Amino acid sequence: MKIQNVPYQRQIFVCVHNANGEKASCGDHCGEEVFRRLREIAKARKLHPMIRVAQAKCLGQCNTGVNIMIYPENVWLSDVRTEEVAKIADQYIQ
Ligand code: FES
Repeated sequence: MKIQNVPYQRQIFVCVHNANGEKASCGDHCGEEVFRRLREIAKARKLHPMIRVAQAKCLGQCNTGVNIMIYPENVWLSDVRTEEVAKIADQYIQ
């Protein structure tokens, strides 16, 4: 095993799990689209991959999706909607 420092300045994990209506999930509120838009912004601002927007396959809080977990700030965003992507990007992808 090799231990090293985290190779990213920030990691933004966006839940993209979609249970297709069988139970509540971030897919009910376009988690995949939120992920895609945030990733595109990080790339457009040339901050990817130092600020890494990554897909998560369920963060365990399915009733409050879309959920986003951000490190190293240790921030959890819930009930995120696509129209809030720009606001999130301006705070965490800059
Ligand atoms: S489906 Fe997103 S937290 Fe479970």
